[in-house]
Amino acid sequence: MSHHPKHPPRRTLLKALGTTAAAGAAGKLMLLPGCSSEEKKNHRENLSFTEIPHALDSQHHLPEGYRADLLLRWGDPITETDIPFHPEKLDSKSQQQRFGYNNDFIAFMPLAPNAPPNRGDMHARSRNSTRGLLCVNHEYTQPHLMFPGYNDEFSATRGVSGAHVAVEQAACGHSVVEIERGPDGWQIHLDSPYNRRITAATAMEIRGPAAGDRRLRTAEDPTGRRVLGTIGNCAGGKTPWGTVLIAEEGFGSAFQGDPEKIEDPREARNHHNFGIAPSNRNWGNYDRRFDIQVEPNEPNRFGWMVEYDPYNPASRPRKLTALGRFEHEGFTLVCKPGQAVVAYGGDDDEHQFVYRFISRGIYRPEDNVGNRELLTEGTLYAARFADNGQGEWLALRYGQGPLTEEHGFRNQADVLIDARRAAALLGATPMDRPEDVETNPHNDCTYVMLTKNKQRRKNDIDAANPRAHNTRGHVLEIAPPGTSGNRDHTSDDFRWQLFLLGGDPNAGDPAERGAYGQQSSDSISPHGWFANPDNVAFDPRGNMWIATDGCERFGFHDGLWAMATEGPLRAAPKHFFGCPQGAEVCGPEFTPDGKTLFVSVQHPAQGRSSTYDNPLHRWPDNNPKLPPRPSVLAIYRVDGKTVGS
Ligand code: FEO
Ligand code: CA
Ligand code: CA
Repeated sequence: MSHHPKHPPRRTLLKALGTTAAAGAAGKLMLLPGCSSEEKKNHRENLSFTEIPHALDSQHHLPEGYRADLLLRWGDPITETDIPFHPEKLDSKSQQQRFGYNNDFIAFMPLAPNAPPNRGDMHARSRNSTRGLLCVNHEYTQPHLMFPGYNDEFSATRGVSGAHVAVEQAACGHSVVEIERGPDGWQIHLDSPYNRRITAATAMEIRGPAAGDRRLRTAEDPTGRRVLGTIGNCAGGKTPWGTVLIAEEGFGSAFQGDPEKIEDPREARNHHNFGIAPSNRNWGNYDRRFDIQVEPNEPNRFGWMVEYDPYNPASRPRKLTALGRFEHEGFTLVCKPGQAVVAYGGDDDEHQFVYRFISRGIYRPEDNVGNRELLTEGTLYAARFADNGQGEWLALRYGQGPLTEEHGFRNQADVLIDARRAAALLGATPMDRPEDVETNPHNDCTYVMLTKNKQRRKNDIDAANPRAHNTRGHVLEIAPPGTSGNRDHTSDDFRWQLFLLGGDPNAGDPAERGAYGQQSSDSISPHGWFANPDNVAFDPRGNMWIATDGCERFGFHDGLWAMATEGPLRAAPKHFFGCPQGAEVCGPEFTPDGKTLFVSVQHPAQGRSSTYDNPLHRWPDNNPKLPPRPSVLAIYRVDGKTVGS
């Protein structure tokens, strides 16, 4: 979602450092021991596709030899119906049976031919790559592009009709759709018992240390343990026990009201911190709980990670308070048998933090029941990135250090509800909008996408956020102690370094110049550079695939860039996919065999005064009777070989 939202290494310096293999002063692109062993065959020979050019037009772009099936568009039915989609006739009931708006995170959850229906763990462990459940977030709605009659985004923000709000609330959340690959490509199964919509009205449980806390209680829910719906669903994660994690990111914009008028100054500051303001969307006029003057605690019931079981369509999603409350981009797991589960996530806002969670319980692959409680109890940490390349995880534990009554924390629930304030007090490093944080199973190093931070001032740069007015973003690499494939992600110490700086490696202004690992600027093709890393995925061969959000500012579409994390072509990106104008790409997700890559094209035709009545273009249908529609594509090679190879 677009938010209202030291000197970079120079080419000469990079060349001089070309063979340095020791982790060193941060701010320079150097190698961490083991994150980048030269022997590994993880380099461009694995990525021999023909690079596509930077472009900007009304279509999506793929390399030669690839095909994209248009799998799901906003409004496509996910149950059997004979009523055709038309935005002008859509009501909330019909939208509840249809794919939602602004698709974001995607999880492909395999369906094993022989696993019993209640054994999500057996399904999830199967490597079936031709049949599965596509689990997709719907981050937010844009009434000026969904419905006729709005002159611009602003008039839709404050003036949306009650009927449209009802459709919007049914169009956000999440979708589960069974899909199968046949001889003619990927198809959806409309008659599947798994197909399901989760919306802003779906009943959910609140679990973990903050469940039942008085700050989570409302008139409708005096228990503080039940909540309706999820919103702002950006990225997410998957578990090996067969559940899906969906993040609540920009929830604040769904709430209206004036935080200044809230009696409790702490709650007022909390709401203000998440962007709740009188100028926000007017949902609260029609659904009163979204007005903080009516229900001041309702926002505290959003901003969590949500876990649900896609293999059980009757299962109730659960908000996991142990993972803290902030603008969650996502949480991705490192699960090693016999050890605690480690999960990494980011808070996507300017000067917010990178987080890690360690479960109290132990992950045992065979313990399907016990594993389902692993994310309800444990310890949340925020990261401190020291300038010397060392890092430290700081525990958010009530009663320790500054997390006491003196600073307004009465219990662990307060620490988790106000995780941002707790992390800041502990001395965590404010970052340039942390998006996806994900571990490459091939080298066991963890990568942090930092999309941008225009608010970063010259006097608050540090080695981990080295650019003032950072418009291009960067990627950090975290190496927990240990060796490749056998790192201790539970250690409170780590080493870190810059993996790449977004931007053109040949930019005239050194402050804007991109840097790609040890690569010399002339080894990056004119189309290989990008800016604003947002989502990331690793293919089964360990290559990194970065999805961007913001490249149009630099004259070309957002898209996907693939690169090795090790070997001579470490951090040397190649451009694989381009979005239609106005869109960002989200979600990248591979089938276990690496032969299909699913992508979400979010908010096509956004911007430049584009509206439903007068859109910039009408991707993907290009039909004068239909508006532009956010859609999921399934991308594969025509010859059936592995994507990217
Ligand atoms: Fe929803 Fe952080 O992008
Ligand atoms: Ca985004
Ligand atoms: Ca995102």
